[in-house]
Amino acid sequence: TTQTKQKEPAINFKPVPTSVADTVVVPEGYQAEVLISWGSPLFADSPAFSPSANSDAQLKQFGDNNDGMAFFTLTNERAVLAVNNEYTNYEYLLPNQGKTLSADDVKKAQAAVGNSIVELVYKNGQWIVNQNGRLNRRITANTPMEITGVAAGHPLLKTKADPTGTRALGTFANCANGATPWGTYLTCEENFDDFFGTDTNIAVDSNQERYGISPENKDYRWYEHDPRFDIAQNPNEPNRFGWVVEIDPMNPNSMPKKRTALGRFKHENAAVTINNDGYVVVYLGDDERGEHLYRFVSKNKYNPSNQEANRDLLEEGTLYVAKFDAKDGELKGTGQWIELTFGKNGLTPENGFASQAEIMIFARKAATHVGATTMDRPEWVAVNPHTSEVFCTLTNNKNRGVKPNQPVDAVNPRAKNPYGHILRWNPSNGNHTAKTFDWDLYLIAGNPTVHKDSLMAGSKNINKDNMFNCPDGLGFDKDGRLWILTDGDDSNEGDFAGMGNNQMLCGNPVTGEIRRFLTGPIACEITGITFSHDSKTMFVGVQHPGEEQAPSHFPDGGRSTPRSSIMRITRNDGGVIGA
Ligand code: FEO
Ligand code: CA
Ligand code: CA
Ligand code: CA
Repeated sequence: TTQTKQKEPAINFKPVPTSVADTVVVPEGYQAEVLISWGSPLFADSPAFSPSANSDAQLKQFGDNNDGMAFFTLTNERAVLAVNNEYTNYEYLLPNQGKTLSADDVKKAQAAVGNSIVELVYKNGQWIVNQNGRLNRRITANTPMEITGVAAGHPLLKTKADPTGTRALGTFANCANGATPWGTYLTCEENFDDFFGTDTNIAVDSNQERYGISPENKDYRWYEHDPRFDIAQNPNEPNRFGWVVEIDPMNPNSMPKKRTALGRFKHENAAVTINNDGYVVVYLGDDERGEHLYRFVSKNKYNPSNQEANRDLLEEGTLYVAKFDAKDGELKGTGQWIELTFGKNGLTPENGFASQAEIMIFARKAATHVGATTMDRPEWVAVNPHTSEVFCTLTNNKNRGVKPNQPVDAVNPRAKNPYGHILRWNPSNGNHTAKTFDWDLYLIAGNPTVHKDSLMAGSKNINKDNMFNCPDGLGFDKDGRLWILTDGDDSNEGDFAGMGNNQMLCGNPVTGEIRRFLTGPIACEITGITFSHDSKTMFVGVQHPGEEQAPSHFPDGGRSTPRSSIMRITRNDGGVIGA
């Protein structure tokens, strides 16, 4: 990375208006087609999609609720798309909407989450799924994984089934992602607490409470048929989730590795950059109201001439958490990274921190102890490929200004923040391992047709033609265009009047200009973005269309079951997306 100023990226498409239609709309001269949907066959012998499919069928099909993803190039005609499958919607996944659960219903739900590794082939001018690809793979809530790093083997990670505390089963709540320059995929475990519960009347301790572990969680009820998810029987099992998991998409037999050195929280994504001096820096958001923003710095350096040597760079390093300071009442200032290392910054046994392993397992508690700033739900982080600037979506926070630990401050400047904002920081001297940084707000989302003369109308770069709410997904393309994906209120009324369905926008990081590029179908979130090696195909996710039985039949139409899908977006003239 350098500090050189970025040349303005070309942004030449004609923006699209808001939409409440049950379809994906892209600019004139572009086309958006479905690449793959929940339940689509992933292997040559996979059954076709059926809403009443059983768990065996789901194991051979694309997972549900696709979220973060990354494109890995093999050749000009062959590639691998690694995709997160975050969760399921029982109202569509299961024949009786999950009102009662059979053992196979739970197995199907466990088979529908995790990851789908999908081989693509370039045929007749388009990337399509290759069902015969030998790299096709499903990773589910039951796939064996290795727990690595400082917390591996700690008593808090040991269970009856795994007395070593080093072999977990599965991953789920896979929200967003990262990709490393050594060719691995990072999948981030976010709302893992939803998958645990119990019908036994038990009290939870303060550590469980901080991570949302509770007998009240009744969304998925896996514990009814799988005691691993019953917190009364297996209280340590939730400690084995909430990590960043590293997957080798090029080896379908490889065992995914949970990287405990990156801390345990509700991980949104993992934005990887190689610092000037060769250390690997990973920026990490914890998406919950009033939680924090983190940075990992590897212990060892990246070796560009020996990718094998980089395989375990995420096993050891130092975790930091951000603290923001304001400058004279302005919405910008300075900040610092505070180290979460045993024995430093008050993280000592006297203060209840027994070891580095415990600090990683309960990273949220350590962050609070060192005085980290509570944030408005840090979602994706993205590093500008042309400068050292880093961006982070802060999606919304109804607790801001309401809960005592979340006062209105410069970096989270609105009480109850309904619209969200995008934070930008620049590390001191362009050095991602520096202790300090400067920050400002790239944009404040708002509604200038409903609110006047207040922060609620949004920052200067927001107007009636580009407004949106709740930025979530975020990613740069190679030219340095910033793509912003939303997961917001799509009621199109009240504070959100005129905003329509969830959408994707393109931001100019130099001028701040924002243009709407895509609108999604009814009751979906737009999430997950990646590009082909030539930037001429963009892959974008439509997640949970028709959630909570909203009237969507995307993408198959008629009276069909709505299905989360990955869209393949190309230009009719074959050009670079956005340019
Ligand atoms: Fe799964 Fe914070 O989004
Ligand atoms: Ca998200
Ligand atoms: Ca979100
Ligand atoms: Ca989501």
